[in-house]
Amino acid sequence: MKDLAALRQEYSQRELTRSTVAADPFVQFAAWFDDAVAAEIFEPNAMHLGTASLDGKPSGRTVLLKGFDAEGFTFFTNYNSRKGRELAANPNCYLHFFWKELERQIFIRGTAAKASAAESDEYFAKRPYKSQIGALASEQSSVIESREILERRFDELTAKHPEGSVPRSEHWGGFTVTPTEFEFWQGRRSRLHDRMRYLRSGDTWTIKRLSP
Ligand SMILES: Cc1cc2nc3c(=O)[nH]c(=O)nc-3n(C[C@H](O)[C@H](O)[C@H](O)COP(=O)(O)O)c2cc1C
Repeated sequence: MKDLAALRQEYSQRELTRSTVAADPFVQFAAWFDDAVAAEIFEPNAMHLGTASLDGKPSGRTVLLKGFDAEGFTFFTNYNSRKGRELAANPNCYLHFFWKELERQIFIRGTAAKASAAESDEYFAKRPYKSQIGALASEQSSVIESREILERRFDELTAKHPEGSVPRSEHWGGFTVTPTEFEFWQGRRSRLHDRMRYLRSGDTWTIKRLSP
């Protein structure tokens, strides 16, 4: 068996200091996101979404970030999925990016709210035809007897809704996460990593360095 204790990497590419970090965490996020795109990271917008049930049981999964601005970070999903039901009951959640090629991670804690129907319609209309049908065919997170049932449903819906006329299900749409906290982590030598945490206080953000 592989000796996992012997697996280790030294991080040394970059640094993040109090004088170089942006005053606004959205500006800092945009700069790091641009770096991730420029580095041609596979799916740079893939992020881990952590949610919790009302009684505090956590769950997590990967989703794709489809937009961000000063209002927050938006992804799209099925509102009846586990994450959709958990967020409806308990909007507290986190987003997490790990861009190993840049030795960086970003943690964002916040609260999620459903995007407007207009915003969900606009994004749904931009999706490829087969993804639109796929979203309609899948009762995400529910048990399904076989793959054949899913494929049959996909074929039936394809026959029913020609390209350009697929309706968005009311159970499918966006969530926007409004952040209350950000942490930007840059790997450094000897595990002396840089961590900059932003906490929201009213309309401003306070920045503190955290011990690695
Ligand atoms: C790279 C990647 C991107 C994904 N993007 C999404 C997404 O944007 N929306 C979504 O609902 N599921 C997405 N998924 C699937 C989810 O990880 C998850 O399996 C699904 O949403 C059901 O999660 P839940 O049962 O916890 O609600 C993605 C999975 C991967 C690996």
